[in-house]
Amino acid sequence: MKMDHEGLNIVVILVISFCLYKAAFKALAPLEAVLFDVDGTLCDTDPIHLIAFQEMLQEIGFNGGVPIDEEYFIQNIAGKHNDDIAATLFPDDIERGLKFCVDKEAYFRKLVKEKVEPIKGLYKLTKWVEDNGLKRAAVTNAPRPNAELMISTLGLTDFFHHVIIGDECERAKPAPDPYLKAIELLNVSKDHTFICEDSVSGIKAGVAAGIPVVGLTTRNPEQMLMTANPTLLVKNYEDPKLWACLEGLGKKAGDA
Ligand SMILES: *[C@@H]1O[C@H](CO)[C@@H](O)[C@H](O)[C@H]1NC(C)=O
Repeated sequence: MKMDHEGLNIVVILVISFCLYKAAFKALAPLEAVLFDVDGTLCDTDPIHLIAFQEMLQEIGFNGGVPIDEEYFIQNIAGKHNDDIAATLFPDDIERGLKFCVDKEAYFRKLVKEKVEPIKGLYKLTKWVEDNGLKRAAVTNAPRPNAELMISTLGLTDFFHHVIIGDECERAKPAPDPYLKAIELLNVSKDHTFICEDSVSGIKAGVAAGIPVVGLTTRNPEQMLMTANPTLLVKNYEDPKLWACLEGLGKKAGDA
């Protein structure tokens, strides 16, 4: 098969980027810690948030009783802070909007218990982290009751040494504060730590903290995530690119 000029350029770019991110990971040895975002990084919760909004908005006759669709959800709700969601949904009665959001979080927690699923390969990575004696924290902008519920439903309560909440820090993500707090609490060096994230705001927080970020394309398109400068993008934790990077970072030979 003959390869045209453009095809060859793409191969060269792929090989160069592979060498760059492998080198970036190699520089992390000896690895001390891994930090994880929660929503979209441990589990894909956006579909559950969507169901909660759809059902509760329909119940109160929002949009003439027609359920909001995924498009509306992505444009107006997904990844946004509840203050902004309240103002978008109920511009004439923000108080009502805020109360609605509190009720929605309670309903979300009920649904999480029934529906939450880990991102593919998550337990392979958490086992690798444990087997290698690394420290680990969950770092999230979600409200604490939601974060703790998702973590316990996934069976990871004992796995995490700390759960750091954005609103409990001086500034939430995309500021670096929550990740810097994790580094301090775990007493590890940020030169020997990496982060797993799935949103632009989360990747920005990690990059601003000076820590390499593995971005997951759970929900958001690659091009969008790339604008935040992750070290590496993967589809999920089974992605061979991730394991090629972890190879040699663990304590045990042949661990990856
Ligand atoms: C933090 O880690 C260093 C070693 O890297 C250790 O000497 C120190 O005692 C630790 N501090 C705490 C509070 O655990």
